[in-house]
Amino acid sequence: MAVARVRDILAARGGEELALNDAYLNPQLGRIVRTLGLDRRWVRGEGPYLVDERGDRYLDLLCGYGVFALGRNHPEVVAALEDVLEARTANLPQLGVTLLTGVLAEELVARAPASIAAMVPANSGTEAVEAAIKLARAATGRPRILYAEHAFHGLTLGSLSLNGNAEFRDGFGPLLPGCDPVPFGDLDALERELARGGVAAFVVEPVQGKGVNLPPDGYLAGAQERCRAAGALFCVDEVQTGLGRTGRLFALEHWGLEPDLITLAKALSGGFVPTGAVLCSRAVMDRVFDGMERGVRHGSTFGGNDLAAAAGLATLRVLEREGLVEHAARMGDLLLELTRPLVDRYDIVRDVRGLGLMWAIELGEPAGAGRRLYRAVDRAQPGLAAQLLTVPLFHDHRILCQVAGHRMSVVKALPALVVSEADVRGFAAALEEVVAEAERVPTALASLAWRVGRQVVGGRR
Ligand SMILES: Cc1ncc(COP(=O)(O)O)c(C=O)c1O
Repeated sequence: MAVARVRDILAARGGEELALNDAYLNPQLGRIVRTLGLDRRWVRGEGPYLVDERGDRYLDLLCGYGVFALGRNHPEVVAALEDVLEARTANLPQLGVTLLTGVLAEELVARAPASIAAMVPANSGTEAVEAAIKLARAATGRPRILYAEHAFHGLTLGSLSLNGNAEFRDGFGPLLPGCDPVPFGDLDALERELARGGVAAFVVEPVQGKGVNLPPDGYLAGAQERCRAAGALFCVDEVQTGLGRTGRLFALEHWGLEPDLITLAKALSGGFVPTGAVLCSRAVMDRVFDGMERGVRHGSTFGGNDLAAAAGLATLRVLEREGLVEHAARMGDLLLELTRPLVDRYDIVRDVRGLGLMWAIELGEPAGAGRRLYRAVDRAQPGLAAQLLTVPLFHDHRILCQVAGHRMSVVKALPALVVSEADVRGFAAALEEVVAEAERVPTALASLAWRVGRQVVGGRR
């Protein structure tokens, strides 16, 4: 049987998504999606929205885990990709260099801190982190990499070795030797590990994605200073925070950091082309690629391809022309202003935090009548309480958002940077409604949690 044309597949086979997933992809993902009732048939993406087969629009606060910073299907990114296809460019000559990737590197370096001089292309966030580990080791001649507890840097083996969450690491060992965790925010602990010697780099997210943990005042600048003093490289992982997400082009601008290495991915894709990059200092570039015989010692077949470069260039252009970084800062401030008061208004809300459009609400055990139920729910499946917000947000308010990590009662939102003020206000109002509901009706809370818990726990086995 011949493989059908894509347009025919899209026209004729819609509705088979879950069956195909269960047969050939990951059936457990299918179970999760069905259990949470998220099994919509998505037919289109428009800016900050996902559209289902009935034409209903859902505000997508998951944003493809941060990929759709410009929203979905931004026409300018589409046009840039069409330009490349139309030009029939001499993509990936491999023993040769191309224009678009060079211009992308030039534009990124021009916007990065003064410590940055060059770019190493990659194809994803985890691949950028893998490259950063290799560059750090090769540039310093040292083996050790430090990372923060609760960190997330990707799921290939090197990045996984810097993952501060057991649920991702378990069962995949042995991981890379020489990778040691330090508590996020603890400069003394970092200093102690650096003093043990042999540290090539400290790799850190400026705002941790798992849980949306903000750094304490002075932490990142202090970490940079201590790395310098110890001769270790300072690597800021901006895969999630980069390109406007936190209300600055690079999150590191909030603290005036000057790292040796910066990893990027997600938003750089324009929402279309898997991509990544490591921005590095001249010293790192020259020490790693220190002669012709070592000129190709790191790389990747698709790294620096024309479609990825075009998507990255279009992303920078749109971010600047539409003022999206400033817009993200304003919308983030508004979201915090509207949602922070929930901490005082509701017993069940422990914290609301965020930076720019990286936002989270954390639930905790209520003091009143719901305490026993909450505990029981949390014992059955730690962190499950957060689904008590995400499920009604989806079903009653058409808002898609995520639990911020395993075993945590934290709901996270990563709106597209193009999100409107009306949608931010709509989300805040919807959130208050579901929080109030969860607090008012503990039995409903428990029954929903049990339903979800049984299925999800069963599904894991
Ligand atoms: C900070 C950070 N680094 C690295 C990664 C890995 O990126 P990817 O999923 O593209 O491999 C992620 C993904 O969520 C991330 O948030």
